[in-house]
Parts: sequence; structure tokens; C-alpha cells
Amino acid sequence: MDAMLDFAIDLARRAGVLLLSMFEGQRDVRLKSPFELVTDADHASEALVVSAIRRQYPDHAIVAEESGGVAAEAGYTWLLDPLDGTNNYAHGLPVFSVSLALLRDGAPLLGAIYDPTRDELFAAERGKGARCNGRRIRVSENATLAASLLATGFPYDYATNPDNNAREFTTLAGRVQGVRRPGSAALDLAYVAMGRFDAFWELRLQPWDSAAGALLVSEAGGRVTDWRGGGWNPWSDRLLASNGRIHDEMVQELQF
Ligand code: IPD
Ligand code: CA
Ligand code: CA
Repeated sequence: MDAMLDFAIDLARRAGVLLLSMFEGQRDVRLKSPFELVTDADHASEALVVSAIRRQYPDHAIVAEESGGVAAEAGYTWLLDPLDGTNNYAHGLPVFSVSLALLRDGAPLLGAIYDPTRDELFAAERGKGARCNGRRIRVSENATLAASLLATGFPYDYATNPDNNAREFTTLAGRVQGVRRPGSAALDLAYVAMGRFDAFWELRLQPWDSAAGALLVSEAGGRVTDWRGGGWNPWSDRLLASNGRIHDEMVQELQF
């Protein structure tokens, strides 16, 4: 297992270094759907990671954002977001990451998230804690919503789907010290694990956005559920991750 975690860490790091090298040059940006961008860097990062996994673990399933794939019900599945924060990246805003998780029988086993702009590598393995650049990390100790700093995000169909988190954002923004929308869900979750945010919530995330970060939060002593406080898995529709202490208050605020 340690070998698999080292493999994931090395790959996330290499893909992140590639993203950073392309970030500084001319970026090729296209529309993937009416509101969704994709860059040449998304594809280059994905090709690097997917080809390395296929070489090393030819019998593992891979689900990657740009090339798709089907998760294995039993056995191993890699979930890859080759560039989380594409919108930031396309606009030259240095807030983005690579997120790589490994599931066994559908449940997150290990995860690695790399932010090349800060050279921060977040990694977790089920039952073995969470780390940033090799050091153990823990969620924050904040016990009240009123003293909290939160993060969230909004779906790409914001303009056309009224179930778009606007109402929840407005409610929570009035109850806390601040709500941020950094633009990389994987990093938002890593920051909850690190104690930089007290909680993060979002809806309609994809499994490659959330699997590694959710494992980081649980392994850092936090709590991950759906918005009602019920069970969560990488395919769940609504994610709430917190330091645990403010979780019930968050659940209350997310119900209408
Ligand atoms: C997006 C980011 C963003 C979140 C969106 C995601 P992408 O991923 O994680 O923070 O709000 O829901 O789709 O498209 O940059 O990989
Ligand atoms: Ca993403
Ligand atoms: Ca992406």
C-alpha cells in the first residue's frame, strides 16, 4: 500500500510540475460546454498520469475527467482530476491542483492533491492520517459557526439551474466570518484538512473532484457527509466536509 501512495504522490507532483510549466507559457483554452473551459494543460496532465497508471497497474480501472472511464465495483479504481481549477488556470489565476485518488471496492483508500504554485503536496491513506509535505495535519478546533471561515463552489450550470447553491451561500455568508470561493474543490477540501477552512460544501461535484480531498478531511479528524448529515460517497450529489465541531450547525443551515 505504501508503494501505491508513493506512486500517487509522485504522479500528482509530476503532473503539477507540468501544469505549472505550461501555465507560464501561452495557454490554449477552449470551451468544453457553454460554460466549461478546457485547456491543453488538462489533456497533457491527464495523459501523463493515465499512461503511468496503465504501465504500473494495467488491471486497475481509471476514471479521468477528460477521457472518462468506468469505475470497478470490486477491485481498484483511480479517480483523476488532471487540473482542478481550470477556470482559474485559463485566466492566469494561480489557484489550481492535481487530484488523484485510489478506491478499493468503491471506497477511497488513498489520495494525493498537489498545488504546484505553493509546492504543497497533500496526501492521505485510509487509517493512516493526512499529511502536507510529509507533516501530519489536523482540522481546525473552531467550535462555532460564528467564528468560522468557510469555502464553497458553484456548479457550471449556475445560470440555467436554480438549484445552484446561491440560496445556501447567502444564508451561510450571514452567519460566519467569511465564505471563500477559491475555485479548486480539491484544494478547498485539503484546506479543511489543514485547518485553513473550518468547512466546505458544494453540490454536483464529480468523483474526481472530491474523493482525494474527502479522504484527507476524514483522516485529518474531520467529518464528511451529505448536506443532511447522512452517508457520503464520491458519487453523492451534495458534499459537506468540516472540522466535525461545526458540522451539525452546518447541516442545520443547509436545510430549507
Ligand atoms: C471545478 C472546481 C471548482 C468547482 C467546480 C468544479 P474543474 O473543477 O473544482 O472549484 O466549484 O464545481 O467543476 O472544472 O476546474 O476541474
Ligand atoms: Ca474539478
Ligand atoms: Ca478538471
